[in-house]
Amino acid sequence: MQTLTILRPDDMHLHVRSGAALRSVVPFSARQMKRAVIMPNLKPPVATVAQALAYKEEIINALPPNTLFTPLMTLYLTDKTMPDMVFDAAKNGIVAFKLYPAGATTNSDDGVTDLFRLHDTLQAMSDAGLPLLMHGEVVDNLVDIFDREAVFIEKIAKPLCEKYPDLRMVFEHITTQQAAEFVCQADDNIAASVTPQHLLMNRNHLLVGGVRPHHYCLPILKRETHRQALLQAVSGSLSHKFFLGTDSAPHAQNRKECACGCAGVFSAHAAIELYAEAFEEANALPKLQAFASQNGAKFYRLPENTDTITLIKQTQQVPDFYAFGEEKLVPLRAGETIAWRVVDE
Ligand code: NCD
Ligand code: ZN
Repeated sequence: MQTLTILRPDDMHLHVRSGAALRSVVPFSARQMKRAVIMPNLKPPVATVAQALAYKEEIINALPPNTLFTPLMTLYLTDKTMPDMVFDAAKNGIVAFKLYPAGATTNSDDGVTDLFRLHDTLQAMSDAGLPLLMHGEVVDNLVDIFDREAVFIEKIAKPLCEKYPDLRMVFEHITTQQAAEFVCQADDNIAASVTPQHLLMNRNHLLVGGVRPHHYCLPILKRETHRQALLQAVSGSLSHKFFLGTDSAPHAQNRKECACGCAGVFSAHAAIELYAEAFEEANALPKLQAFASQNGAKFYRLPENTDTITLIKQTQQVPDFYAFGEEKLVPLRAGETIAWRVVDE
């Protein structure tokens, strides 16, 4: 039986919500991951150091006994984020700021309306060495939903790189060949996270044979050529610029299966196994450890984890749903199988 032992991974892009929902999902990540970069798109957003530290406490309180899992906290960039808040964040262990263009995705109403008006704040981030995590989509209604990432590169990401050459940036959950190329061509202060769903699925998985709301996320799944470009990016010669960020984004079943369903795919129940499938498809299993456990830590200037997890090539059955507070949560591959599983210690 094929096995694979790798340093314990970190999830560099994770949504855990709050309250009972948080208590339902945090243990899934804590079982596989050592650390996770926690997204701040709560309602209201996590926009101050005090809010982030309280949120961190809530996550830690939801951990199963004897679990060593470190939430890495981020702040939500708003039109009101001032330079002194950036330096204060750096002093208090906040690892990054998250840019949501206003209206781009779930809970982004408080997002930035014009990034280039935040000059002093961006300069402060550059000076403090705090990365800007970008939800890389424009929100212009005239731009087709499938083109929003590519247009973001031209309109925002490239000008940003020119104006702030030392600003460290993560292009989050990239979905297109253009984004992969942009990151490869940029200096090493630019990196990208990649989700399991964008490595494993294309837009047919969303739309052929019926609309599948549980495959709806933002940025939206793209055509197969883009999926191939992502597989190439995470396994190619510049693969050190790409790292694991699940964007696991739980929503209750009734918020997904309705007339106007929320964006977000829940993958934390089997994140590393799903990535193993993708890397196996790309003939790149030897590169999984760097992607999952080393490249992200290096970018965030964190020490590598020292303990390991072992994956085994053995089919696991995914349940139809998990409990999500009082509600139900439909995971990626619900009712189906995954080709790998993590060996329990
Ligand atoms: C995320 C969520 O639900 O919070 N949804 C998603 O489709 N990815 C928000 C985000 O990261 O865009
Ligand atoms: Zn996200």
